[in-house]
Amino acid sequence: MSNREGTPKFPDSYIGDKSVEYDNSTWMERNQKKTSLLCLQYLRDDKLDSLGNYDVLDGNPYIIVDLGCGSGFSSEILVDSGHRVIGIDILIDMISKAKTKKKISEHKKDLELILADINHIPLRKASINHIISISAYNFIIYGAKTIREKFKTANNTALYLKKIMKPKGRIIIEFYPKDEKELDLFISSFNSNDFDGFMIKKNPAQKAGQTFLLLKKQ
Ligand SMILES: C[S@@+](CC[C@H](N)C(=O)[O-])C[C@H]1O[C@@H](n2cnc3c(N)ncnc32)[C@H](O)[C@@H]1O
Repeated sequence: MSNREGTPKFPDSYIGDKSVEYDNSTWMERNQKKTSLLCLQYLRDDKLDSLGNYDVLDGNPYIIVDLGCGSGFSSEILVDSGHRVIGIDILIDMISKAKTKKKISEHKKDLELILADINHIPLRKASINHIISISAYNFIIYGAKTIREKFKTANNTALYLKKIMKPKGRIIIEFYPKDEKELDLFISSFNSNDFDGFMIKKNPAQKAGQTFLLLKKQ
């Protein structure tokens, strides 16, 4: 999510003093939590029901993985909404703040926090129901130099996410692709790994910027 100083940079915007600033920002907390609630709403989107062979979601609560959980604003909303949550983040400066919040949470038993890379999540095959990721997914290609490397990383991650999800699993991603090319790269990584879905943009004319992907495992 862009902040008042502009587009955040990974990892610089999330380490040391910047991570403290992030966690102390009431503006950021409000925005992350608001987006988390919207993503929970998108998880139940009727248009996802009508795609493919199966209809409405079954069962509730779910086991939801929060990819790039940061300092825990999004995970807090998911847990408070009655779900069991596994928050994954690659930076100790960010996830340590989520762990501090967990200690005083009344739902602490429903939240597990794992220091890990989204590209290599240590979870068992078909072990989770759904995935939500807020303002983090575009960072998975950090470090990949060529378009080929970026595509390979995005593709391997989509394949891995498919493996850890149970049948009918859904993924809701809110993220900030840099441009149309990068957006296409992420979309095609899901298409080529048997996900159905569609995209929502507040401003459809805008090529980059805030984008929601609503996906369903076939
Ligand atoms: C905007 S922040 C966190 C947003 C989070 N939803 C929240 O509520 O605080 C983005 C996070 O993505 C994490 N991230 C970036 N690349 C990652 C990766 N490859 N694996 C795991 N986490 C990653 C960063 O460490 C950072 O904490």
